Amino acid sequence: MIELAPSILSADFARLGVQAQAAVEGGATVLHVDVMDGHFVPNITIGPTVVASLRKVSKVPLDCHLMIERPDEFIPAFAEAGAAWISVHQEACVHLDRTLHLIAAHGCKPGVVINPATPVRALDEVLPLVHHVLVMSVNPGFGGQTFIHSSLKKIELLANIRESRRLGFRIEVDGGIHRDTVADVVRAGAEILVSGSAIFEQGNPSENARQLLKSALDAAKHAVQGLSSAVAGEAAGDRGNSLSLP
Ligand code: DX5
Ligand code: ZN
Repeated sequence: MIELAPSILSADFARLGVQAQAAVEGGATVLHVDVMDGHFVPNITIGPTVVASLRKVSKVPLDCHLMIERPDEFIPAFAEAGAAWISVHQEACVHLDRTLHLIAAHGCKPGVVINPATPVRALDEVLPLVHHVLVMSVNPGFGGQTFIHSSLKKIELLANIRESRRLGFRIEVDGGIHRDTVADVVRAGAEILVSGSAIFEQGNPSENARQLLKSALDAAKHAVQGLSSAVAGEAAGDRGNSLSLP
């Protein structure tokens, strides 16, 4: 199932509730909250207080992406504020397994995030523990950056690993997702699409969300159609072979 998770990082914070609601009206089913501490990433954003305010006006789950050092110290506060999903960076966690269990113990869905330079294999041991894996398709810290194409093969690899190991995590992608990149990430296997500047920077967040979601759903539909014609082609090929046998 494809879901759109607008990143409020690019919203007008003076009108946060109204803009978040508009994105939800446009079809967003998750709201992505970027938490930055000025240490793990070179920017500072918001904390649990804003999450608590947003919780009051939002019916959809709040997906808190913690780009912070020592996340264990802040997980209880984000859970208390109303985060439904909490993800932490593999690169920021000394005891990643412990941190993921801590998130779950606070009643939230645990997620793990990898930066563009971190390989998927760094997650081998924790994949059974997570609700979602977030693949960063930009270096974290700012909205409006250019999509890094090498993230596509990481998304594909995760989808393959999930199938071969029969796991249930969802695949999320974050950074540089807009109308020119959305089809590629969907075709690669991403299901939760984080998008900030394409939703909030210009125009109407509701209409922007609607259009981006439509592009994503169209890409998913074509991918399925492509797959079924490939399967049909293979079956026809099989028949062809058997018919040509004596
Ligand atoms: C970057 C954040 C992203 C970012 C996405 O550190 O994690 O969520 O806001 O913004 P766009 O869609 O503008 O790349
Ligand atoms: Zn994010």
